[in-house]
Amino acid sequence: MKILLLGSGGREHAIAKKIAASPKTEKLYVLPGNAGMADIAELVPGKATDIDFVVKFAKDNNIDLTIVGPESPLIAGVVDALEAEGLKAFGPNKAAAQMEGSKVFAKEVMDVFGVPTAGYERFTDPDKADAYIDSLNTADPIVVKADGEAAGKGVTVAKTKAEAKEAVDNIMRKKAFGASGNSLIIEEFLDGQEASFMFFADGDDFVPMVPAQDHKRAYDGDKGPNTGGMGCYSPVPVMTPELQKEIIDTIIKPTLAGLKAKNIRYRGVLYCGLALTSKGPKVVEYNARFGDPETQVVLPLLETDLLEIMLAACDGKLGSLNVKWSDKKAVCVVMASGGYPGSYEKGKEITGIADAEKDGALVYHAGTSIKDGKLVTSGGRVLGVTALADSFEEAIKKAYEGVEKINFDGAFSRKDIGARVL
Ligand code: AMP
Ligand code: GLY
Repeated sequence: MKILLLGSGGREHAIAKKIAASPKTEKLYVLPGNAGMADIAELVPGKATDIDFVVKFAKDNNIDLTIVGPESPLIAGVVDALEAEGLKAFGPNKAAAQMEGSKVFAKEVMDVFGVPTAGYERFTDPDKADAYIDSLNTADPIVVKADGEAAGKGVTVAKTKAEAKEAVDNIMRKKAFGASGNSLIIEEFLDGQEASFMFFADGDDFVPMVPAQDHKRAYDGDKGPNTGGMGCYSPVPVMTPELQKEIIDTIIKPTLAGLKAKNIRYRGVLYCGLALTSKGPKVVEYNARFGDPETQVVLPLLETDLLEIMLAACDGKLGSLNVKWSDKKAVCVVMASGGYPGSYEKGKEITGIADAEKDGALVYHAGTSIKDGKLVTSGGRVLGVTALADSFEEAIKKAYEGVEKINFDGAFSRKDIGARVL
């Protein structure tokens, strides 16, 4: 089959490796991809959000399946546009992708059957939001979220009322996220550990993946600014089989039923971000795609052919598949550019990847490119170095041995990825 994958990050590199390894894959294109994928796929210059271009490319090249990595093209309706031309695509359509595209929509879906999530109020008027903040009588932080897509930056967990009002000002008056800030929600703070639980869904059935936990803060000990993720591990010891069953019964099934009640069939990956609170698991957010860097630890554990699963999801046949997972532990350490998540320099030569891979590390490229024939940094998060082993101790050791072998000027990574589980 001819496959087109949209996206360019570490998540897409992990998807690309699996798809390239499928016996069903005859040719893999990635649009736009990154330097790490060049040996397993043909890179197609262009923008994944340019829907007309994506559809034309898929038609002209007789693509059998288009796989959508990031949320933006999904929210913009790339799956609808492909399907309108009779082309197969893996990912939710525009209506279903609102689970990520609109915080209010996701809350309304959860409300249908009372899925446990943070209580919230919605505002379209910044003065009313300010007045509501003033009226709150809580010692907990106040959580302010832009309703629409904000590239993961629309959420503020404010320690003071002044900080919460500043977030309202940024979102609604200064329009820091454009039209995504025409409305916002203010929600209850959820305590407890976070975990990511992803599902393949076909509109009727769903298949859980192995849970993962990421490290969002930049520095050791969960200090410093929020990032796109500095590392990840899977499985998650606190997510026991009993807890997973509870989440499926009280959260996932009623969420999918809530979507159906709104006449939406959700097909693709549903990412559930959970808070394991003292009052039980609650939903922090839904995403309409694989997580990044969760994918870089979850997919290496998948033993069933990913392409076969995606095709079954598109055809509503997930129920007939027996999806198998390895019982190994996976740990991914992100190597970032010095200064990230603030400003950083690009174009630093990267060496040592082949060495790290020779010793068994899986190196996923996130922000790399080729300049004058050399591999160089081109983003904040540059690489994800994943290792698999029988124990977390061993997986952590192997991942850091891989990191040690790789060099670029200014490289930094957290030293405590996975330490939480030891
Ligand atoms: P989101 O974009 O909704 O995933 O939010 C980004 C991050 O903000 C989450 O991963 C949490 O760490 C934090 N967060 C979001 N909502 C809440 C909440 N209600 N209580 C506590 N933390 C939250
Ligand atoms: N790792 C969080 C996300 O992909 O949204």
